[in-house]
Amino acid sequence: MQRLRRLRQNQSLRNLTAETQVECTKLIYPVFVRHGEGICEEIPSMPGVYRYSVDRLNEVVSAALAAKVGGLLLFGIPEQKDECGSGAWEEDGIVPRAVRAIRSFCQERGRSLLLIADVCLCEYTSHGHCGVLSGDYVDNDASLPLHAAAALAAVRAGADMVAPSSMMDGVVQAIRSALDEAGYVRTPVMGYSAKYASAFYGPFRDAADSSPQFGDRRSYQMDVRNVREALREVSADEAEGADIVMVKPGLAYLDVLHAVRAETRLPLAVYNVSGEYSMVKAASACGWLDERRVVSEILTAFFRAGADFVITYHALDFARWLAEEKA
Ligand code: PBG
Repeated sequence: MQRLRRLRQNQSLRNLTAETQVECTKLIYPVFVRHGEGICEEIPSMPGVYRYSVDRLNEVVSAALAAKVGGLLLFGIPEQKDECGSGAWEEDGIVPRAVRAIRSFCQERGRSLLLIADVCLCEYTSHGHCGVLSGDYVDNDASLPLHAAAALAAVRAGADMVAPSSMMDGVVQAIRSALDEAGYVRTPVMGYSAKYASAFYGPFRDAADSSPQFGDRRSYQMDVRNVREALREVSADEAEGADIVMVKPGLAYLDVLHAVRAETRLPLAVYNVSGEYSMVKAASACGWLDERRVVSEILTAFFRAGADFVITYHALDFARWLAEEKA
């Protein structure tokens, strides 16, 4: 009669037999770096998340080091945008400058922090699409060398890993070849393999000022209705040489995460995206949800569904709560 409840009767037994555990080292914190000086501005639709100019990155880097998170995922917001997104691959562009600044900050303190550079053109193009245009169509193949150049600029500056997020076909291979040719054979590539055309990216596009100026991203991001297609995308990225694959967004796609887990032997990431964060923040601010418990439940769900690590805007908060509980 008592069989199923026997191991639930106290915290020690529950901890001992828990099947999943959320650890801070398994969380990646996304950081928005912008042009300018002396800037640390809160993103209105993402309370608690800020855009930093390079000179103030030390604030978030210190917090990330203290929280012992697994690393940072860097997004750049350039001063100027143009048709082909040239700010994305300038050697002294916003992300390379951020990488160098964070590297030297960490070095001075004898610490290390994993730096992942997101590689996409949408933050850098005047039209807001993730590749270059041919008429009003995003030209896949013409966009590939630009992604490769952007990845190289970030890696030359010292990024540990690059993560192409544009859903261009062949982008993993284009970046892999460029890195290999330049001698960066040890730098891994994480594919945003199964990235859906989702409305949950809304707050991110506010943050990065990257909304498409016409049309939408459905000609390159995945159809929300498909899961077999996600498996094809993952296989394609694997064949192109991805070292890690990802499912994005997370919450509404746990079935996809689970299906991908069953099919791939590569490490699997999930992106707990901006809209998912903002929903929790808004409801918590109204007193409608218990933020700590909800965040912990959500992060646990990602690991239970098969993720090896989670990219999440909750990372620093979660680490702080965990430290408070342990104290
Ligand atoms: C760039 C990119 C996006 C996100 C990550 N990389 C936005 C998009 O595809 O429009 C979204 C992340 C988030 O919502 O937190 N292509």
